[in-house]
Amino acid sequence: MARSHAARMNEVLDKVEITAVVDINLERAQMVAELFPKKPVVHNNYEEILDHVDATLIVLPHHLHHPVTVKCLNEGKHVLVEKPMANTEQECLEMIESARRNDRVLMVAYCMRFHPLVLKFKEIMDNKTFGDVFQLSIWTEQHTQRDSSNWMCKAKEVGGGQFFSHGCHYIDLMLWMLGKPVKGIHLGTNRCTPWMEEEGTSNVCLEFENGVLGYHFGTWGARGTRLGYSFHAHCEKGMVEMQLGKGQVAYLGDVEKHVPGVHDPGQKEVILLEQKHAKPTEIEMSHFIECIETGKKPLTDAVSSLEGLKVIWELYEAEEKNIIADLQGMGLGSMNFD
Ligand SMILES: NC(=O)c1ccc[n+]([C@@H]2O[C@H](COP(=O)([O-])OP(=O)(O)OC[C@H]3O[C@@H](n4cnc5c(N)ncnc54)[C@H](O)[C@@H]3O)[C@@H](O)[C@H]2O)c1
Repeated sequence: MARSHAARMNEVLDKVEITAVVDINLERAQMVAELFPKKPVVHNNYEEILDHVDATLIVLPHHLHHPVTVKCLNEGKHVLVEKPMANTEQECLEMIESARRNDRVLMVAYCMRFHPLVLKFKEIMDNKTFGDVFQLSIWTEQHTQRDSSNWMCKAKEVGGGQFFSHGCHYIDLMLWMLGKPVKGIHLGTNRCTPWMEEEGTSNVCLEFENGVLGYHFGTWGARGTRLGYSFHAHCEKGMVEMQLGKGQVAYLGDVEKHVPGVHDPGQKEVILLEQKHAKPTEIEMSHFIECIETGKKPLTDAVSSLEGLKVIWELYEAEEKNIIADLQGMGLGSMNFD
């Protein structure tokens, strides 16, 4: 992911200088450093470069997010940390506290929140362009396999399974788009993803205060896919579809009443936007820089990240107990730190 960030950072190089790249594996740090026109220092110990930076982007295994973020904040650095913020609520609280005490920006890299397609998709729902939404479904189907000794497969290091690691993006988006959750379930399996200690495939179903349903299917075990990364919002007057791979948001509506065996003749498709990048990290990075410069609260701040993770932990816990999770009182804006 560090390479992915670096590859798109040229768009912000008029605002920041990349002075150092760190990885315990120097070769990997070197590969990232080479992507910048002005060569940064390469090191295998992040504590050694802290005197040379004002801000850090932390792209590490999840169990290291907390100690490295807290150290950087305590040394007076602003921090953009990759998702998920940290592996426990206590760790997240300590990160929030360190940012406050040191008056530094702490932002979580939920890049999907900055994606022009996602923003367009949300705008259509917020404006009720096609009426009220009643069902939002999000699919992420991919084949992500690492050696089972890799940190990404180990429950303790990753903080859970596919749902915690990757699904956190989509729980965050659902809470952002649909509001306060009421109840929900998560069912996970590691069938056909035996390299994962916890689930490699997840089905999540949420009910929101306004009666809307949210569904998320995420898998790292897909050997083929038609949907890839797709969002469907069923609204009163039709369906809004976002297909990340195609780079488009479309409207499918005016469907005649369903007649068995007959293809929907009145269905039409309107392209609302086209965009190429799958991960708009340069927009995310611009936002981080703007927050440092202006003191603005990040769109993906640490508190809202924790609020999203708490929903995931509640869903995991309910799954263990074989019950439906009670999510009342949770969601974005539910925690008060003032
Ligand atoms: N936003 C996204 O779409 C997205 C996509 C993929 C990964 N990520 C996130 O990025 C982060 C990293 O994931 P990844 O896939 O790049 O993992 P990775 O295993 O490919 O890279 C992690 C790097 O950290 C290095 N490292 C480990 N311990 C270290 C230490 N103590 N000091 C310095 N370097 C150390 C490793 O050598 C490795 O190069 C995770 O938080 C992950 O969830 C985000």
